[in-house]
Amino acid sequence: MVEMRIPFGTVSITEKSRELVQDCLDKGRISSGRLVREFEEKFADLIGSKEAVAVSSGTDADMLALAVLHDLGAKRGDEIIVPALSFVATGNAVLHAGFTPVFVDVERETLNIDPTKIESVITERTKAIMVVHLMGKPVAMDEIKEIAEKYNLYVIEDAAEAYGAVYKGKNIGTLGNFSAFSLYVAHVITTGEGGIVLTDSEQYAEILRSLRSHGRACKCKQCVSNITSGYCEKRFSDKERGDIRFHFERVGYSCKMNELEAALGLGTLELYDEIVNKRHTNLIMMIERFQQFSEYLWTYQEEDYERIGPHAFPFVVKENVPFTRDELMLFLEKNAIDARTLFSSIPTQCGGYEFLGYKIGDFPNAEYIGRNGIHIGVHQDVNEADIDWFVETVEKFLKKAKTER
Ligand SMILES: Cc1ncc(COP(=O)(O)O)c(C=O)c1O
Repeated sequence: MVEMRIPFGTVSITEKSRELVQDCLDKGRISSGRLVREFEEKFADLIGSKEAVAVSSGTDADMLALAVLHDLGAKRGDEIIVPALSFVATGNAVLHAGFTPVFVDVERETLNIDPTKIESVITERTKAIMVVHLMGKPVAMDEIKEIAEKYNLYVIEDAAEAYGAVYKGKNIGTLGNFSAFSLYVAHVITTGEGGIVLTDSEQYAEILRSLRSHGRACKCKQCVSNITSGYCEKRFSDKERGDIRFHFERVGYSCKMNELEAALGLGTLELYDEIVNKRHTNLIMMIERFQQFSEYLWTYQEEDYERIGPHAFPFVVKENVPFTRDELMLFLEKNAIDARTLFSSIPTQCGGYEFLGYKIGDFPNAEYIGRNGIHIGVHQDVNEADIDWFVETVEKFLKKAKTER
């Protein structure tokens, strides 16, 4: 196995994280509590949202944002519109929240849901559009919001890959009714495993807090994190206290964040600007240097009304070239560059979705990218010399491919 010169992700563990983790261990305070609440407040401030609810993964964040819709009138089996191309978690979250995903193809130029294809799939059962800012590229939110307003739909942003992304002057993660971020290790802010839901609605946040803790009745900010060891003085009288622990108002989940995870997150939050800026510089450098390969390989561009969130560098092998995606990936890997495929068309290239009855050809762009896309890391430990190495490796590969065919 080659040791990777450009691994896909990295983790920045700060001194503050170490101190906080040690403090938790020393005090034996490990399950969700004060640090989780502090992390939520700081994360909400960072992105510009009123409320934040931390959970165990980005998938749980997507799922809980969707599950709130049951309190807002949605019925089991109602439909949620999602892009066909994403990490499979987006589709899984819809199903696990009790809804039916209705997939829409993506645009090749942006990798994101094609807004012109949304209206034709809206039915009486459609409740929300869940957009994904794939590879940090902001979705065309003006168009999405116009459709949502016209048909009275909720908008949920899957912002798992969109830290630091800006659309027309506004931070991605503040543009829908909810947004969901992943805090997994490959992401800008990490808690190891984790996720967080943002919303401006206090009512939705209370439902989210209940949902992450089995649907418990006590939802107020002050006590919910420690609900298993306490009771809600705000809502329940002395007489009722005995039962509150097992009082459930809705069908919930068990996906709280713990103190050790929050401790890691609080440390990295301090490096947020530094990490985002370094990653963005790397991403733009890669986009620019890739223009020389445009006969063979395509990548996206940053428009002047946006800032791409620097999650990773995506590129797609063009049609009629003298090599395959898999040959290029293998060459990159042999040269110590950790290359990943650019996901799959969820409904037609992920086996678990066969039961929905979609067939190959239904989502030509998502399927093309699923067969021909690659992404590699742009993280804070990648430097200019690594980018030179990457570009030279691609150059070498193309030269070889051209002479061998
Ligand atoms: C677009 C998207 N949504 C959701 C997720 C799920 O996040 P997690 O792995 O934290 O569950 C990911 C993971 O990276 C993702 O890329």
